[in-house]
Amino acid sequence: MTQDRPVAIHDLQSWKLRGERIPMITAYDYTSVQVVEAAGIPVVLVGDTLGMVVLGYDSTIPVTLEDMIHHVRAVMRGQSRALVIGDLPFMSYQMSEVQALTSAARIIQEGGCHAVKLEGGSEMAPTVARIVGAGIPVMGHIGYTPQSVNRFGRRRVLGKRADAAEALVRDALALQSAGAFAIVLECVPIPLADEITRRLEIPTIGIGSGPGCDGEIQVFHDLLGLYSDFVPRHTKRALALSDLMTAALSTYADEVRTRSFPEAKHATSMDLDVLARVVERIDARAGRVDA
Ligand code: KIV
Repeated sequence: MTQDRPVAIHDLQSWKLRGERIPMITAYDYTSVQVVEAAGIPVVLVGDTLGMVVLGYDSTIPVTLEDMIHHVRAVMRGQSRALVIGDLPFMSYQMSEVQALTSAARIIQEGGCHAVKLEGGSEMAPTVARIVGAGIPVMGHIGYTPQSVNRFGRRRVLGKRADAAEALVRDALALQSAGAFAIVLECVPIPLADEITRRLEIPTIGIGSGPGCDGEIQVFHDLLGLYSDFVPRHTKRALALSDLMTAALSTYADEVRTRSFPEAKHATSMDLDVLARVVERIDARAGRVDA
């Protein structure tokens, strides 16, 4: 972060105008948001990807509003300057505008984050307008939308065909007109993401959409390699943290087994005369009982 004051929604707009790219990442707890802030990343998403990378589900579908509020609160206890956006999970906003406003209000009031994100294009524009109208900033999310996995399948690039590409441009413009302050473009073909970015006044935040977006978002666990079975195509893995963690944990287990850890310096001693008197007293009492 290049500033000491907390990041505000209007900063994203200024960064776009100045051509400063916006790094963004997910975080799901107290510890990780502090690492993210120390690295100078100004915008954090408590994403419903936590369903997969933290809770072990195979999609974001089972994640509840309660799950999200729990993790948003943990992040907010560690946050000091980053702008924190809470994801609205599946079926917490699709049923009606009132349901969406109620869910957005809960994640803001009970979780304490600064803005919400929801998935969907033109069809969600009235909902976005309703939430924004109540004073809650909204980030849009179009292209591949993981909450629609049962409709569209797993991570698919949408927008290669003319009709789909045109629909995505319309979706982006509709969300902007509804008052969204930024839009995530997930797995949108690069030239189309560039075109949308050019047409919008608000920032686009890419993931799997190429280098032309105003910012980029990655999932914390993908970037740091907190699991080892695969690397998503849209991720440039910065670390193989799960390998490092496994090595550190097996060293720990070996040291415990071989008694090389803990050493005396890892705990506290006491006056041995005091212990000798305690032992004497206990033995004397035991002697009386045995006699
Ligand atoms: O939930 C999430 O982490 C997201 C990002 C991948 C954009 O929606």
